[in-house]
Amino acid sequence: MTPPVLDLTALQAAGAALGASLPSGSVVWLEGELGSGKTTLVRAILEGRGVTTPGASPTYALVHHHEGPRGAAYHLDCYRLRHPDEAADLDWETLATADLLLIEWPERAGAWAPPATHRIRLGHVDEDTRSMEVA
Ligand SMILES: Nc1ncnc2c1ncn2[C@@H]1O[C@H](COP(=O)(O)OP(=O)(O)OP(=O)(O)O)[C@@H](O)[C@H]1O
Ligand SMILES: [Mg+2]
Repeated sequence: MTPPVLDLTALQAAGAALGASLPSGSVVWLEGELGSGKTTLVRAILEGRGVTTPGASPTYALVHHHEGPRGAAYHLDCYRLRHPDEAADLDWETLATADLLLIEWPERAGAWAPPATHRIRLGHVDEDTRSMEVA
C-alpha cells in the first residue's frame, strides 16, 4: 500500500492528532532524509499534546524539554552525533519516564535510543508534499 501524501497543512493536522492520541510513555522515532519534515511534525505533535513551553529555538540542541498537561515531553535531535557514544551522557533514566519522547535521527544514537513504540517515516514527494508512514 502506498503511504498517504500530505501537504504541509495535512501533515501538521496529522501531527496534532497524533499528539492528542499517543499513549503516555510513547517513544516516537522520526525517520527520513534532511528536510523531510521531521521537526515540523514534532512541533505539531507537541502542539497537539498541549505543551505550553515555546518551540525549539534556532540554536541546535540535542535535547529540547517541554512541559504539557500530561507531563514532560522531550524532543531529541541526534543529527549532530558523530558517534553513538556521544549520547552516553544524556539522562536516559529521566527521558525514559517522560510522557512523550520524540527522537529525530534515532539511528545516530545507536543502542542508546530507547525502542520505539511508534516509527514514523517521512519522505519527499515534491517541494510541497511528503509521504508519511506510521508503524
Ligand atoms: N507537506 C509538507 N510537510 C512538511 N514540511 C513541508 C511540507 N511542505 C513543505 N515543507 C517544508 O519542508 C521543511 C521541512 O523541514 P524540517 O526541518 O521539518 O525537516 P527535518 O526532517 O526535520 O530536517 P532535518 O533532517 O534537517 O532535521 C520545512 O521548511 C517545511 O515548511
Ligand atoms: Mg529536523
